[in-house]
Amino acid sequence: MVVLGAGPAGLVVGNLLLGGGVDCVVLERAEREHVRARARAGFLAANTVRILERHGLDAGLRLRGRPHSTCEFRSGDGRFRLDYSGLGRGERHTVYPQQDLVSDLLARFLGLGGRVEFGVEAVAVHDADTGRPSVSVRDADGRPGRWHARYVAGCDGRHGAARRSLPAGTVRRHHRDHGVTWLGLLAEAPPSLDAVGYAVHERGFAGHMARTSEVTRYYVQCERGTPADAWSEERIWEELELRMRGDEYGPLRRGPIVQRAVVQLESDVLEPLRHGSLFLVGDAAALVSPSAAKGANLAVLEAEILARALVDDLRHGDSKGLDSYSARCLAYIWRAQEFSHWMIRLLHGSVSGEAGGPASGEAGRPASGAAGGAAAFHDSLRRARLASLRTSRSQQDWFAERYVGV
Ligand code: APR
Repeated sequence: MVVLGAGPAGLVVGNLLLGGGVDCVVLERAEREHVRARARAGFLAANTVRILERHGLDAGLRLRGRPHSTCEFRSGDGRFRLDYSGLGRGERHTVYPQQDLVSDLLARFLGLGGRVEFGVEAVAVHDADTGRPSVSVRDADGRPGRWHARYVAGCDGRHGAARRSLPAGTVRRHHRDHGVTWLGLLAEAPPSLDAVGYAVHERGFAGHMARTSEVTRYYVQCERGTPADAWSEERIWEELELRMRGDEYGPLRRGPIVQRAVVQLESDVLEPLRHGSLFLVGDAAALVSPSAAKGANLAVLEAEILARALVDDLRHGDSKGLDSYSARCLAYIWRAQEFSHWMIRLLHGSVSGEAGGPASGEAGRPASGAAGGAAAFHDSLRRARLASLRTSRSQQDWFAERYVGV
């Protein structure tokens, strides 16, 4: 077995294959330290924790993971909180920085005798439509190489070799640009509230997510094309303070902004997820917008489904799991897409693809004026959605189930 990519998807596949007695090698273009240090969202759904527990991959998150179950919505219509551990199926998230999870998965995989070729970039997957696929690679010195396997798990993300190698005409791509841009920030500052904060403001969306007790993730909606370094730190904190209504609900705890990245909210799903001996997993299979923190949770879910199916096939000659892999995972992916899209429309006025779309005025200010008829209509829908969430228990149960579920 060859696994492309040592992210959550690739390392869960690798660990479960080794645990099932299937030999595999992981090809990872980055160096080991880069893989371990890459800071990413760490919002694990209850189902993700159960999967990791099932396979003994939860030691770190049991020690250092923190339960989380509250989100707070702020808008011109007031503020309300939902403790979703008392709603829906009563599940909660576990906050555990992804770089810690990846480090745990990597240590466990290597400890089981797994092999990771760091600094080796997959260039293409060949002959996936045969039983003898191979992967051409290039090492850090540019030297070419070739790996042969019975199957290839493409866990190398949205821009990886697996996606690039799909024969033209064999895949349907569903790509949607939601017309919303966020400036993602990492601040060396303690969280400003004990909840995930979603602030809806006429100047645009702002979000607050604790990463650790000393580091907080913020998002601030900005105009398409805004460079990551366009705003001064002063301007960023002013904008966050304004949109989170610091004057009403308390000031934000400030600190140096140590990381910035512009995030276009996009969805990008490929169908099917299997091409002969090549299987797509995680971001290589489907990108979901970060509006509902589903990416890593979907990756772990798909990785378990694939790894179990590969073990059944390679060890027991039962290919049913492989045959149903794509349809099974796409059902989960589309539910996650649907909820993420609902969240985008809950937190922003009009979004791309709706009349009176997202053409922004000044930085982050949604459209208004003549075309505002449609924008005002969509904004009223947004306010009504938020009011339902605030007042209806059945809507809150639905929200809790979809927000934490995968
Ligand atoms: N060859 C080898 N490795 C590659 C190649 C390549 N051509 N291209 C990318 N990679 C590696 C990347 O360096 C990365 O380590 O593949 C890995 C892909 O990992 P992720 O991008 O984390 O994707 P995935 O494992 O699917 O995780 C999905 O987790 O990273 C979060 O929120 C993110 O939604 C995402 C989720």
